[in-house]
Amino acid sequence: MIKDPDEIDKKYDKQIKIVLLGEVCTGKSSLINVYINKLFDEKITSTKTASFSKKIIQQKDKFYKLNIWDTAGQEKFRSLNQIFIKDSNIVIFTYDITRKSTFNELPWWIQYTESILGENAAVFGVIGNKLDLFDKEKEIKEKDEEAEFELVNSEDGKKFAEEINAEFLETSAKEGAPELEDFIYKLVEECIEKPEFGLRSEFVSLRGDEGKSTKNCC
Ligand code: GTP
Ligand code: MG
Repeated sequence: MIKDPDEIDKKYDKQIKIVLLGEVCTGKSSLINVYINKLFDEKITSTKTASFSKKIIQQKDKFYKLNIWDTAGQEKFRSLNQIFIKDSNIVIFTYDITRKSTFNELPWWIQYTESILGENAAVFGVIGNKLDLFDKEKEIKEKDEEAEFELVNSEDGKKFAEEINAEFLETSAKEGAPELEDFIYKLVEECIEKPEFGLRSEFVSLRGDEGKSTKNCC
């Protein structure tokens, strides 16, 4: 399913823009790091502005280049997020299952996204991250007695995702997020199957049609 990273930029049929959004420290960069590099870095630094990754995946006989924007959760970079949201085909909203405040902010993120993309204009996914910590309140409080610890239960996460018509995943980047690959694949499939969601970007075909750009051909 996954092509050798060296193949990136050589041959693909279409491009899909994916953006990750959510509060600071929900694990956006960690999720992308395990997805792309199969690495979890405990000492990862907070994202400034945004970071870009790419990956080629195959669906049936077609190759899709995923252009993935991992945005910054910090308030001071928020105004820049609109640049990364613009023209996205897939938007993934993240929260930390141990910090309910990050879940409670999701309606704001959705409203903000829709103010840029319009309604029903992209495929949505919701990820509740840090599942490995669900029973670790004691350890967390021992390290920092002021740390927030209020669990978001699975049912609430699932219900919220249903309400906004999004795919839902609870996972742990720390444990390698083994379900993430299938989750993103499902979002990509949905984007391909529902052209109204996939038509925001300009898809560029480089296979047998070098350099020619093809609009609205998802
Ligand atoms: P910003 O870039 O500031 O918006 O944060 P972010 O959402 O990209 O979070 P990041 O990936 O930088 O992770 C924040 C902290 O949470 C880091 O210390 C990570 O090591 C930790 N972390 C991320 N994912 C997990 C997880 O699944 N479990 C645990 N226990 N820690 C995690
Ligand atoms: Mg980050």
